[in-house]
Amino acid sequence: MRDVVSRRGALRAGGVMAAAAAGFAALSGTAAAEVPALAAQPGRGNGNGRPGGHPGPGTDFDPVAPNTRDAVTVPEGYEQQVVIRWGDPVVADAPKFDVHNQTAAAQAKQFGYNNDFVGLIPQDGSGKRNFLVVNHEYTSETEMFPEGTYDEANPAEEQVRIGWAAHGLSVMQADRTRDGGLEVRHSRYNRRITLDTEFEVRGPVAGSELLTTSADPTGTIVHGTLNNCAGGVTPWGTVLSGEENFHQYFAHGDRITDPQQAERLDRYGLVAGESTRKWERFDERWDISREPNEVHRFGWVVEIDPNDPNAKPIKHTALGRFKHEAANIKIAADGRVVAYSGDDERFDYIYKFVSKGRYKPGRSAHARRHNMALLDEGTLYVAKFTGDSPASEIDGSGTLPSDGEFDGTGEWLALASGNESFVDGFTAEEVYVFTRLAADKVGATKMDRPEDIEPNPVTGSIYAALTNNSDRGAAGKAGADEPNPRDGNKNGHVLEWDEDGTETRFRWRLLLVCGDPAAADTYFGGFDKSRVSPISCPDNLAFDGYGNLWISTDGNELGSNDGLFSVPVTGPDRGQVKQFLTVPVGAETCGPVVRDDLVLVAVQHPGEGGEPGSSWPDGGHARPAIVAVRKSDGGRIGV
Ligand code: FEO
Ligand code: CA
Ligand code: CA
Ligand code: CA
Repeated sequence: MRDVVSRRGALRAGGVMAAAAAGFAALSGTAAAEVPALAAQPGRGNGNGRPGGHPGPGTDFDPVAPNTRDAVTVPEGYEQQVVIRWGDPVVADAPKFDVHNQTAAAQAKQFGYNNDFVGLIPQDGSGKRNFLVVNHEYTSETEMFPEGTYDEANPAEEQVRIGWAAHGLSVMQADRTRDGGLEVRHSRYNRRITLDTEFEVRGPVAGSELLTTSADPTGTIVHGTLNNCAGGVTPWGTVLSGEENFHQYFAHGDRITDPQQAERLDRYGLVAGESTRKWERFDERWDISREPNEVHRFGWVVEIDPNDPNAKPIKHTALGRFKHEAANIKIAADGRVVAYSGDDERFDYIYKFVSKGRYKPGRSAHARRHNMALLDEGTLYVAKFTGDSPASEIDGSGTLPSDGEFDGTGEWLALASGNESFVDGFTAEEVYVFTRLAADKVGATKMDRPEDIEPNPVTGSIYAALTNNSDRGAAGKAGADEPNPRDGNKNGHVLEWDEDGTETRFRWRLLLVCGDPAAADTYFGGFDKSRVSPISCPDNLAFDGYGNLWISTDGNELGSNDGLFSVPVTGPDRGQVKQFLTVPVGAETCGPVVRDDLVLVAVQHPGEGGEPGSSWPDGGHARPAIVAVRKSDGGRIGV
């Protein structure tokens, strides 16, 4: 057994769900030393504070060293707890999880697979009672089912149905514990959203012929949501969740012979032949040749209202259809609602939606209904970036231009507003459903895989994670430009911009060009690179109450497991990246939530990608899970 975490908390009785209740455990001393850590390397920073200075609030902790442990590793003086793991009960009568006897009926009541986005929404001013809303991005059947029980070429129908139930979201009541932790409780709010759950299609293409199927001739009701990657909590207390790589679930795109239809499918990456999971064998909606419009019903931003357990989830078509990583809201100075969203594919785009109507403060049912409707009507834009240095200074090496910064100006190009299209050859409906093709047409800037985009609640600046793009500069592909300055970009970068108040123009700069700080092609906001943590492949973003940016990573290229990092964006410590935690081997770090005295991360796909596998968190079969981290003395994070 490799379970190096010693638990000192006792299981609690009463209304607490037994499987979810495990006390905090410190990971330090001898237990941590049993597993290998990467040796300190010359030139690699350790992320400690600046000489003679004290780290600013929120980032005062001893950084975790890069490592390949099969554990969550937190700083000295911090403790961790598994809040909920794949298979744990979400609704009250959920059966106990048994990896050897999985059923679709059980999975539909249990916590789904591969947790990604995590939303923690306070139900009261104190933050003691909360809704916990979690995305279940995708299934990995070869990891879920015990070895030798899943035949990829010939899955059993029940295994396919388990997959349908393991997707979607979990909505739960989660309350703070007396020791500062977080536990999932039985409540009337708890529910699972799966591929059986009805969604209401809203906005400009609700009822469009492009969305009608034989099961839904109205084009307004869709069963389920797919590949929900990241998301955002809205100011009105709901969750927006991005349908990302929906293309992979559909089969037989190659049977489409109409050239326009084939071009549209191709732009969204629809594959020929059978799908990986073979769902089309059990429901023909996954077969494009039989139900050609079903695929148009995925690739949207969806909204879940945890405040009302009977609220039907919504698909918001006004935000466009692409591989949405997430969506995050900023309220503009005039009260209109701005939603930012990235399309996570190499050479795809950054978008924003600006509502027609204005935000109504408060979280009453009335205010919530009003604000949710704001996302039905407005203008959809795509971003065009222009560098302010001569193109000759951007040679793909990552060398800073002579003005010392990768920076410039930007323009938001309008695609459609309500029923009006601004793109030649596209109706408004076509802009919303085939957004990528419309954005191609207007000459948007091809980015290095836009992931999470998040406004800083303290400064108002906007941040986007561009995770990587190994094809930048490859034959026949776009070369480096100032906002994407490295060819063969393996480690990604983080972009920052400020809107100028006109709705269509902004000023941008790169905050981080990620990688090994000892390498010449990295940049840490101008901070001394000998005193930062290495960081690779930024994915999800969050802010703490002080306005520090927190970044979780997916696919570390530097030999360490993935992790969570903090970085101040203002003041003398701007750019000082410090590693707060690492996740187990093979896992991706998702969903960071940073409260004053609590950090949450989703540990997605522990052990994925072969040997060495993972037995996190309990020993035995690896299970994706949500982890809470707090300071051992109960104090504020990073203070
Ligand atoms: Fe599912 Fe873009 O990460
Ligand atoms: Ca410049
Ligand atoms: Ca992601
Ligand atoms: Ca990712």
